[in-house]
Amino acid sequence: MITVAVLPGDCIGPEVINETVNVLKTVTDTIEYITVPVGLESIDKHGEALTEENLDICKSVDAILFGAVGKGESRPEDSLGKLRQTLDLYANLRPIPFFSEELCRVKDVKDCDILMVRELSSGIYFAHHDRSRDSASDLMSYTREEIERIAHVAFKEAEKRRKKVTSVDKENVLACSKLWRETVTDVASNYAVEVNHEFVDAFAMKMLVSPDVYDVVLTANLFGDILSDEASLLSGSIGLLPSASYNYERKYALFEPVHGSAPDLKKNTANPVGAILSGALMLKYLTLEEEADIIWKAVYSVLARGYHTVDVKGAPQYVMTTHKMGDLITREVQAHSNR
Ligand code: IPM
Ligand code: MN
Repeated sequence: MITVAVLPGDCIGPEVINETVNVLKTVTDTIEYITVPVGLESIDKHGEALTEENLDICKSVDAILFGAVGKGESRPEDSLGKLRQTLDLYANLRPIPFFSEELCRVKDVKDCDILMVRELSSGIYFAHHDRSRDSASDLMSYTREEIERIAHVAFKEAEKRRKKVTSVDKENVLACSKLWRETVTDVASNYAVEVNHEFVDAFAMKMLVSPDVYDVVLTANLFGDILSDEASLLSGSIGLLPSASYNYERKYALFEPVHGSAPDLKKNTANPVGAILSGALMLKYLTLEEEADIIWKAVYSVLARGYHTVDVKGAPQYVMTTHKMGDLITREVQAHSNR
């Protein structure tokens, strides 16, 4: 039996994770799910967003399925940051699916297929933060080794795709970016993959003007955070994006939608697709490739039929609740699954 720790989290987290587990259960019965409280629920029960004991459960399972955290006292860095840092989940893969011209928020884009590879366990997120009343500082720091390992991930992914890596940095200003560019260039020499370097400001424009020229986009932690929200416009909504975070050497893998906990969203209106596709990425990682494929196709098919949640463009009469959208995808999965 495969074991998966399910961490639903706060606000819309549990809603989208419920739909995801329904979909997963429809396509496979080889997974045992262990629910682990994280965020507010854990703070209420144990006084902290993620206890050591529950962190140990996360370390012991085959994969982690994470919803979203953050509301009031539940600060994301208390649990999600802790997971990313202690499991050293340095490789964050964010595929940007292109569904259709209708759903895409950017004019004149006909097609694109970008995979963002974001460094996730270092950089400005995790180095020294300092705050006094009238001054503050956040250190951005990278080692050559940290850049090397994420660069290898990007080049290996590119080998399986269109063999092109665009490394995004701010080399004209930042010392970290100078080391980044130098290291990525060195790593590139091991692969039959084209490499380009772009400045983050220019890239932020070009990605929306001609997204079709990009294949794998490699970035440091903060740039990847910002650029993946921007890239969601190509898919149609941040609610549609899945992600996978790995430490390949230690065999840790966490799957979560790219969106946050959205505390202001009305109940049962969140988009479950990002979470459901994160479930599909998880199945692929667990070598259940066919099952993963069935989920991807079901999502494409339900969206192509015009069904969507409020965050996605489309006809008002096809606006679905979180649960209805999950149900439609589950039924589509059921129709194509051999179970
Ligand atoms: C993401 C999120 C997180 C991040 C937040 C919740 C800390 O925005 O995964 O993109 O900034 O990394
Ligand atoms: Mn983000």
